[in-house]
Amino acid sequence: MSFSKFMVKKSIASIRSESEKCELKRSLSAANLVSLGIGCIIGAGIFVMTGQAAAEYAGPAIIISFILAGLCCAFAGLCYAELASMLPVSGSAYSYAYASVGEILAWCMGLLLLLEYGVAASTVAVGWSGYVVSFLGNFGITIPTELTTPTLEFNKETHELMFTGGFNLPALLGVGAMAALLVTGVKESANINNIIVFIKLAVVILFIAIGAFYINVENWHPFIPAETPSGNYGWNGILRGAGIVFFAYVGFEAVSTAAQEAKNPQRDVPIGILGSLAVCTVLYMAVAAVLTGIVNYSTLNVADPIAKAVDAIGLPWFSFIVKIGAIAGLTSVMMVLMYGQTRIFYTMSKDGLMPSIFSKVHSKFQTPWINTIIVGTVIGIIAATTPINILGDLVSLGTLTAFAIICFTVLYLRKAEPDLPRPFKVPFSPFFPVLGILFCGYLMYGLLSNPITVKFYIVYLLVGVVIYFTYSQRHSKLQKL
Ligand code: ALA
Repeated sequence: MSFSKFMVKKSIASIRSESEKCELKRSLSAANLVSLGIGCIIGAGIFVMTGQAAAEYAGPAIIISFILAGLCCAFAGLCYAELASMLPVSGSAYSYAYASVGEILAWCMGLLLLLEYGVAASTVAVGWSGYVVSFLGNFGITIPTELTTPTLEFNKETHELMFTGGFNLPALLGVGAMAALLVTGVKESANINNIIVFIKLAVVILFIAIGAFYINVENWHPFIPAETPSGNYGWNGILRGAGIVFFAYVGFEAVSTAAQEAKNPQRDVPIGILGSLAVCTVLYMAVAAVLTGIVNYSTLNVADPIAKAVDAIGLPWFSFIVKIGAIAGLTSVMMVLMYGQTRIFYTMSKDGLMPSIFSKVHSKFQTPWINTIIVGTVIGIIAATTPINILGDLVSLGTLTAFAIICFTVLYLRKAEPDLPRPFKVPFSPFFPVLGILFCGYLMYGLLSNPITVKFYIVYLLVGVVIYFTYSQRHSKLQKL
């Protein structure tokens, strides 16, 4: 078998002409794109993981973790923007890799996107379940703990997974409901998305505005708690925290997948990506400052930290509103991620890299229904059985790898295809793409302290590559041309 066989790539010209023939209406403005980005971004990261990362790893210095993770995303975001402006296609990073470096990398990108979208949807479902359970608690409805906790638990002392016998039923049911909606073709319309984005933003901004009056600066001392022998807190904790809260930014590049529907993709997609990223970074830092200012960081390791903090300052009505906002926001993120995952599988199946069943469309609903049912079942079971910290770490590892490949792709194409029109160019190339790769590597390094996730990640990628050589490469449509 020749090496060139798995470096086969789609021609950029064919991808561009596919996009020119595209019949989707170009109706999205820069503001719509920023709203779309915020719709995908604000979710379990800020509503759940910030509290846990502050409690266990960074303390109030989680604010610095947000800056590190935001900078990493900014460099990767600029690279995404360059690729999106050159190749205005849907399918995102998978299509960029197919057109630039070749099929094997496109396949690997598909594996990483399964973490970034599929496993992220499971993670968000766990966060959603936490807020739903807490919300029901307000009405005196208590669900037995065995039905709200994951089947596996991570033991921090022994670094082993333990069987708990629990099963997170609400998380499974939440995913099931989303899958049912997606099968019947109920896709969030731009209007519903705008309403949910508004509710989410209103809750976050109200939390910052009201919470600011209850800050006790004592809670910010020490700002960087001293490092423990096991490497928590201190600079290592900030780095570890950055790897965790990186999850809060996952989804910003979804804007690039809307390039085909943007009125002026060359100008508006970069604005959409960087604009939503900037808004979220500022909000995240402010939420983190208020959260760790109103209660001591050590109390934040709970399923609904924002609501708990509001409870602590004695505003039950507001805690109720926070829960409604969090549930609405997490629902929309879960739906967008599951939608994205099914469409990535759909594209991969059309290319022959996955079985054709994944691109079978329902005759009435016009949706890839079997694909959606399979994806929903797997995502739901993972959500019901696996602890959120393991899931979050996996998503961050996979997404950081994908981002590093995107930065590399920009550098590669600048050399391999220097004359292609680039309506948007990453400034200060090659420094910014290289900085993007270095930042991704640094945040990944911070995540290595969880050996379970790292082992799983490596085995997952190896199995994925074996599947490529035993199935996908043999069925690839491009290989048969
Ligand atoms: N960034 C998204 C969230 O935090 C995935 O839920």
